[in-house]
Amino acid sequence: MKYNIQTLFLEKQHSDCFVFGIFEDFKLCFSIKKIDEDSNGYINQLIKNKDFFGKFNESLFLYSIPNVYSTKIILLGCGRRKDLNADRYKQLFQTSIKIIKNLSLKTITYFLTELNIEGIDIYWKVRFAISEIEDSLYSFKNFKTDTNKKKITSLIDSINFSVFSDNDIVLGNNAIKYGLAISKGKKISKDLSNMPPNICNPTYLATKAIELSQNYPNCITIDIVNYQDMKNLGMNAYVSVGMGSNNKSLMSIIKYKGSTDNKVKNIVLIGKGVTFDAGGISIKPSSKLDEMKFDMSGASIVFGLMSIVAELQLPLNLIGVLAASENMVGSKSFRPGDILTTMSGKTVEILDTDAEGRLILCDVLTYVDKFNPDIVLDIATLTGACVVALGTYVTGVLSNNKNLVQDLQRSSNQTGDLIWEMPLFKEYYKDLNSNIADMTNIGNNSAGMITAACFLSNFAKKYIWAHLDIAGTAWISGKNKGSTGRPIDLLSQFLINQSKNNIL
Ligand code: BES
Ligand code: ZN
Ligand code: MG
Repeated sequence: MKYNIQTLFLEKQHSDCFVFGIFEDFKLCFSIKKIDEDSNGYINQLIKNKDFFGKFNESLFLYSIPNVYSTKIILLGCGRRKDLNADRYKQLFQTSIKIIKNLSLKTITYFLTELNIEGIDIYWKVRFAISEIEDSLYSFKNFKTDTNKKKITSLIDSINFSVFSDNDIVLGNNAIKYGLAISKGKKISKDLSNMPPNICNPTYLATKAIELSQNYPNCITIDIVNYQDMKNLGMNAYVSVGMGSNNKSLMSIIKYKGSTDNKVKNIVLIGKGVTFDAGGISIKPSSKLDEMKFDMSGASIVFGLMSIVAELQLPLNLIGVLAASENMVGSKSFRPGDILTTMSGKTVEILDTDAEGRLILCDVLTYVDKFNPDIVLDIATLTGACVVALGTYVTGVLSNNKNLVQDLQRSSNQTGDLIWEMPLFKEYYKDLNSNIADMTNIGNNSAGMITAACFLSNFAKKYIWAHLDIAGTAWISGKNKGSTGRPIDLLSQFLINQSKNNIL
């Protein structure tokens, strides 16, 4: 898809469809006013006839309007002028794409970018527009054999955004550059998460990582740490999780070097990559068990982010770890009651093999210390308790550093990708007490998201760290199940912000 920015002159535009917004007060803005004038008051007549009220999210599809250069027009109700905010603006794009999907249009011009929204400049209007359009057009059809169903749902090849000034053209074009790279990375991430677990296993993730480095040979290199390497390193907690599976654990390390300046921050991203979580011996109930293929969403997010920074050539040094494993039931599976010695030397008494994510992550948190990281983020579908506490709208954040949480919150405010901080009070740590090992791997059935993060924090003492529990936000459950690509928007913005402020 090609995106363009253009200034107001309708005469110059060759587009199959124009998309306009009209507020409830019926004060038409510049371009739609021009359409109204050229068509002898066609739009005002519609309003007078009460065919259109301007109510929020109302839509009207028009064609063959006299004297108008484009054959089709979509009018979208914007509601009350003062109520238009980023969320509503995004919804207008979703509504437009629902209509557009059913039409054969090649080029579209959006005038929604002309709408005034308090606190949001043209850069963000274009970023949000691209993000909503690409999300709304996404579908995962890799395994449909019927060619009709497989066919891409839209024919659109270019989209124009209308802006007022030459300065807006510069900002808009910059937004296109960032928006496109982020959408591309989000699509890669969603595709990876949506893959079935019989194909997407730890080896598959490693193969994808190698492919990524081949696409960006100037800045990305890969290290694969296999089962034997991990055993040699003493990563016993990590390797134990994969013991019940024939698909052995494999850790793919994606190194991105975007700067040779050694004052640039080293950031490490760790993604939980459990390609299928059956729960192990503490087996899960079978309802919706198919959705446990999404338990590698943390790894797919890290993968998407690595592609975004490489695409944008951000001046950062970033290491992404895909911590892949499969938690299965077998004669070699680890057991409740087992005591594992982690890479850090600390011992863990296993009380539930389904709390496997933290066992993988604790060893990776120790492993990444060798990179001398300034910041470590882990991203994981870690606990059902996160879904109970925050639902599917908000990613849980737990951290040992207030400034880092503030930086994440800023990226969240910018993008609308919601997060909420949960506390790591010392009281919670007691829930992990074991009478025979240094700690247990689960708490006591309450505050499960927090006790999981307490467990991780025991292994993240040497650097600034945050844990993102994406169990509720990473995928949509049920009949229309599928990856959301969250929190790519949040974290790509976090990395962009870091790259602008990257000197220690
Ligand atoms: N992958 C799951 C967490 C999960 C559950 C994510 C449901 C999304 C939806 C994780 O490995 C797990 O099984 N966690 C257990 C921990 C418990 C045994 C302390 C859980 O949340 O039930
Ligand atoms: Zn899991
Ligand atoms: Mg589990």
